[in-house]
Amino acid sequence: MSFPVHRPRRLRRTERLRSLVRETQLAASDLIYPMFVCPGKRVRNEVASMPGIYQQSVDRFLEECREVEQLGIAGIILFGLPEKKDEQGSEAWDPGAAVQRAIEAVKKAKLDLLVATDVCLCEYTSHGHCGMVENGEVLNDPSLELLAKAAVSHARAGADLVAPSDMMDGRVGAIRRALDQNGFANTAIMAYSAKYCSAFYGPFREAAESAPQFGDRRSYQMDPANAREALREVRLDLEEGADIVMVKPALPYLDVLRAVRRWATVPVAAYNVSGEYSMVKAAAEKGWIDERRVALEILTGIRRAGADIILTYHAKDAARWLAQ
Ligand code: PBG
Repeated sequence: MSFPVHRPRRLRRTERLRSLVRETQLAASDLIYPMFVCPGKRVRNEVASMPGIYQQSVDRFLEECREVEQLGIAGIILFGLPEKKDEQGSEAWDPGAAVQRAIEAVKKAKLDLLVATDVCLCEYTSHGHCGMVENGEVLNDPSLELLAKAAVSHARAGADLVAPSDMMDGRVGAIRRALDQNGFANTAIMAYSAKYCSAFYGPFREAAESAPQFGDRRSYQMDPANAREALREVRLDLEEGADIVMVKPALPYLDVLRAVRRWATVPVAAYNVSGEYSMVKAAAEKGWIDERRVALEILTGIRRAGADIILTYHAKDAARWLAQ
């Protein structure tokens, strides 16, 4: 009989006690804020399904970056919209494209922000798939060279981290080799290692205009039913030289996140994706939930499950709430 000797409520009595025994910390310096850049000047279009998130030209983007820096957020991850799409997605490695110019702008402004870039082809290809397509099939090996070219162009523009999200086999190795051969040994790779084929990417595809024009991504992104396979993906990415591994989405995959955290010795990131953000925003707009409490609870849960780093559209809100 442990009662009444043991009374866990003793340590919950005051905020001082609660904060003394709190196991998980959440800070702005753990967060990465995803941003969408597009061609043009003075463009700032809100994404309908993601209130507070914009497609913006580099000038407007830079204004928001100053705000992100002041909030103490660790950095940003960039997604680009091309001038025009083609079969290969050639604007992905164009030094004059929106992402490359955005990286240069942040670095030139000497902002204290880490700049990560999403390395993928789906925003840039006319068919909307993440690799090269032939006869309706997404080809693996020929895609690697294109992805590596994109990563090198981001590094050349000044990116601190490149984050391949395409899920082709061998892409981390191909990117690492290409970076090293081009003199970018210090550019880190944050690999989307366990990236699932998820319906939670829906709002993002509106933001990035990257929905596949035929079929779906099941032949390259992971089956949501698989957890052991995530460890296999992580192991392969580490063998190929990943510096940070990622689990994506976050909420339906907290078990995977925990398993990866237990197993890996590198930093682990989790992507709190667009659909997870939009659900919170929509329910909050209807007055059904308290956005602040729900968002902080979600982010704390992702940290508790094992994420060192969280990519989240709530980064700015969370940083403000945490500072209060
Ligand atoms: C590109 C990419 C996607 C996301 C990140 N990189 C979309 C996809 O795979 O279809 C999703 C991010 C989000 O939903 O917030 N491949």
